Amino acid sequence: MTPKEIHFLMSPRGQKLLDKTHQEKDLAKRIRILRKEISSDYAALVSRQVHLQGKAQRKFTRAREMLFDSEGLEQASAEVVSLHVGERYQEYTSVVDLTCGMGGDALGLAQAQSLAVMDIMLSKVMLCQHNLSVYGKNALCLVSDATLWFPRGAQAYFMDPARRIQGKRVKRLEDSVPSIATLQRVLKESPNVGVKVSPALDYEKLDLDCEIEVISVGGECREIMLWFGDLATTKRRATLLPQKASLSSENFSTLPQEKISSFLYQVEKAALRAKLLDVLASNFELASIDPTLGYLTGEKVVSSPWLTPYRVCHVMPFSEKKVRQELRKREAGKLSVKSKGFVREPLWWEKRLQVPGKNSCTLFLFRVSGSPLAVFTQPVSQELS
Ligand SMILES: C[S@@+](CC[C@H](N)C(=O)[O-])C[C@H]1O[C@@H](n2cnc3c(N)ncnc32)[C@H](O)[C@@H]1O
Repeated sequence: MTPKEIHFLMSPRGQKLLDKTHQEKDLAKRIRILRKEISSDYAALVSRQVHLQGKAQRKFTRAREMLFDSEGLEQASAEVVSLHVGERYQEYTSVVDLTCGMGGDALGLAQAQSLAVMDIMLSKVMLCQHNLSVYGKNALCLVSDATLWFPRGAQAYFMDPARRIQGKRVKRLEDSVPSIATLQRVLKESPNVGVKVSPALDYEKLDLDCEIEVISVGGECREIMLWFGDLATTKRRATLLPQKASLSSENFSTLPQEKISSFLYQVEKAALRAKLLDVLASNFELASIDPTLGYLTGEKVVSSPWLTPYRVCHVMPFSEKKVRQELRKREAGKLSVKSKGFVREPLWWEKRLQVPGKNSCTLFLFRVSGSPLAVFTQPVSQELS
């Protein structure tokens, strides 16, 4: 979107047309209504904006009043993440968002006492300024290439480098724009820096002294934050949103155990991604069956947002024939399979192991110390209902 187009959408006339267009759901009718008032290019612009505002409702509570371009919306942090990330900046008197985009993160960073936002593209800064104002926030707005210039002397900085270069997704910090070289320059300015990186980043290869926070929304790992200086609170952390459950890598010891006890626990992905399985095991007095597996086991039922418990009914070495016999014996016609370390996908096994019967069973197929195992279970929630 060009600055001229954004100006138009922000103007009283543009806003009125957006309101009017929202009321008409049919795309062809929308364009017809708009064409009576504006040129075809601007009619398409307004119609596209209405579409983006609808799409953005998954990320922002006030999407209907905000303005987006499709790339900016795709790259934007959702409000729930941005507010969480921004909390760490609350105490700082001056914060700079070096790559503000349309302002997803800036919404949360505006919890700081004063905020400056910056982007290499004027259009992004305009969108960011408008979107902040929708939430009653404001910031000093700047357009600059962060590799060449950024405001000095701030207490803390935030960076969310672009991870899509010429349409291709990049995973390595070195390949994102601005890159790690800019981060090193920012760190010289202030040690307090937060950097948002790809959730697929292989963070163990990073040679950086920082906290790694894996943030998951609705069970999916969405972001990894690298926290430097006073913004860091631990070495590794996993956070579940919107519950705000947080797990950190301090004070734990491991209890490895191969035997599967009365309950098997499936662990939230964010905790696994942050390599905090041992912390959960220690906090809840559970045992990890095999560190590579990501399951815990114990004799008691534990209630935690990090753990989904299953009551173990039977454990046996895996043999397709014997597993089917056991399922038949249990009349487990409603089968759900969860597998790890098996070539075939769970769905393939569900079809393959179909037996008649009215009972349900969650079957875990995995390998412990290399040996394939079948664990027949019942979800605890199902037992209680
Ligand atoms: C991933 S997006 C930021 C998204 C933003 N945090 C949000 O939640 O809406 C990255 C942004 O970095 C900007 N950018 C890329 N290279 C830049 C540079 N050298 N200096 C400043 N900004 C840059 C892009 O224009 C893009 O808007």
